[in-house]
Amino acid sequence: MENLNTLFENNRQWAKDILKTDPVFFEKLSKQQSPKYLWIGCSDSRVPANEIVGLLPGELFVHRNVSNLVVHTDMNCLSVMQYAISTLNIKHIIVCGHYGCGGIVAAIEDRPHGLIDNWLRNVRDLYYLYEKEMIAIKDPTERVNRLCEINVASQVFNVCNTTIVQDAWNLGQEITVHGWIYGINDGLLRDLNVSVSSVAEMRQLGIR
Ligand code: CO
Repeated sequence: MENLNTLFENNRQWAKDILKTDPVFFEKLSKQQSPKYLWIGCSDSRVPANEIVGLLPGELFVHRNVSNLVVHTDMNCLSVMQYAISTLNIKHIIVCGHYGCGGIVAAIEDRPHGLIDNWLRNVRDLYYLYEKEMIAIKDPTERVNRLCEINVASQVFNVCNTTIVQDAWNLGQEITVHGWIYGINDGLLRDLNVSVSSVAEMRQLGIR
């Protein structure tokens, strides 16, 4: 059986490096976490949340799934959101997609992929909702990338419509939901300018 010693070695080195700059780093973290942001991103290994925004352990609360979806019946994602908002008092929720997302590609392919097609059906529905715009884009890569952007905006809207965010807004809690997209080929984040911090702003944007 292959043992994964390299990973343990890497881990020891990593912990050592952190302690070099801050000898009480882990001791402090063990007492509490106070992240300022909730990150909802794709599981893709090329989009490591903390690393691309230069944040250390303790600074980013993270939920990742295939194609960064926020589905109203997904207790996993909703529980993360509830904890982030009610307990950690996080004020910024970032939905971050990425160009060339394999989940988005699979969602619009006309061949079966097994169980995951049930999850990706949410994206396929989006494709049909924006079918006119989709068909008008002739380049397949561009079409996928546009759907990646539309998907982020749609998930921002889903976050805003959860009972968790709606209740928090009603109670006067400040929460802004952001939609970003990451370029795997250049390592850069783009703001899709779909930030929402109230019901009124959500209506104004008219995202579906
Ligand atoms: Co992806």
